[in-house]
Amino acid sequence: RPIAYIAGTGHAVPKNIMTNADIAAMGLETNDEWIVDRTGIKQRHIAKDGETLTSLSADASRMAMARAGVQPGEIDVIILGTASPDHLLPATAVEIQTALGCTRAAAFDISAACSGWLYGAIMGESLIASGSADTVLVIGAEKLSTIVDWTDRNTCILFADGAGATVLRRNKERGSTKGVLSSFMRSDGALAELLWRPAGGGAEPFSPEVFEQKRHYVRMAGREVFKHAVRSMAEATDRALDSARLTAADVDLLIPHQANVRIIEATAKHAGISMDKVFVNVDRFGNTSAASIPIALSDAVEQGRVKDGSTVLFAAFGAGFTWGSLVARF
Ligand code: ACO
Repeated sequence: RPIAYIAGTGHAVPKNIMTNADIAAMGLETNDEWIVDRTGIKQRHIAKDGETLTSLSADASRMAMARAGVQPGEIDVIILGTASPDHLLPATAVEIQTALGCTRAAAFDISAACSGWLYGAIMGESLIASGSADTVLVIGAEKLSTIVDWTDRNTCILFADGAGATVLRRNKERGSTKGVLSSFMRSDGALAELLWRPAGGGAEPFSPEVFEQKRHYVRMAGREVFKHAVRSMAEATDRALDSARLTAADVDLLIPHQANVRIIEATAKHAGISMDKVFVNVDRFGNTSAASIPIALSDAVEQGRVKDGSTVLFAAFGAGFTWGSLVARF
């Protein structure tokens, strides 16, 4: 290492913005003050007519490919992390492939919830390390508005839509320190039911009863998820820094999964990283699950907070549970 580096980033979110006041106006017993105080979220983007996971992902990918200076024909593999695909069969990644004209690529989805982009980036780096690929498009994208219950104030205030994309390329420069320096990934399926969609898969297929009982929507035990998120993100930041032989002082920017400002603050505190070195945009975008880290990275690049030579620590946590981390030098 480093074998692969992040050559370009991009993001795309729906045009439609929904504020906390808009949610309260839908008749839910909630308000802007409660949502900002408990989560830090002020608004989110929610897809409307014609905006699909494929269209958002293709827009984000075109931006990432343009910034990386990569043509569609140069992409060897497309990996999409998502929990809200356009279709259950086939993978949305192949639809994105067609939209982009990446005719040489292999394309597939992975299911790791909010850790989707991070797992995808680790897989992309591994494909480059094994010699199977030189250029991998790693996307995290969600249209969570289609799988949340808009009458459940515990969940609908949190989740949102959007896509983030990154181009990973083989580092061919001799002696270069640019690229992925370390990574860590872990799961615990014993806790799956704390954050899940009970029905709609083979175990409990769609049926009138499922729709009546709303078992096809995301269900979450918020407090429990919160505790595990803080604990697991702490482990994740420790492990990635240790294996890169770095300390908190070496980190220029921490880009954590954007679920909740309080989880982000606890993660930064544990890692010993001050909040001025932590990127936060959950206030504008809400929790976009697999899309949150690549959207945040692209946003940070646009704001000039990630520059040549920056050392960035990424940390994710999501349903499964899944969690992980990655350190990359730009
Ligand atoms: N507006 C007003 N009141 C609400 C709302 C709301 N939107 N939601 C819940 N409440 C009420 C509850 O009903 C409860 O009322 P009660 O005391 O009368 O029973 C009270 O507020 C406190 O509820 P808690 O759930 O205990 O509130 P908490 O402080 O834990 O905050 C929250 C809830 C924001 C969901 C928090 O638990 C959290 O952020 N958990 C992590 C969730 C998360 O980030 N999930 C995603 C991470 S992983 C991933 O991204 C997949």
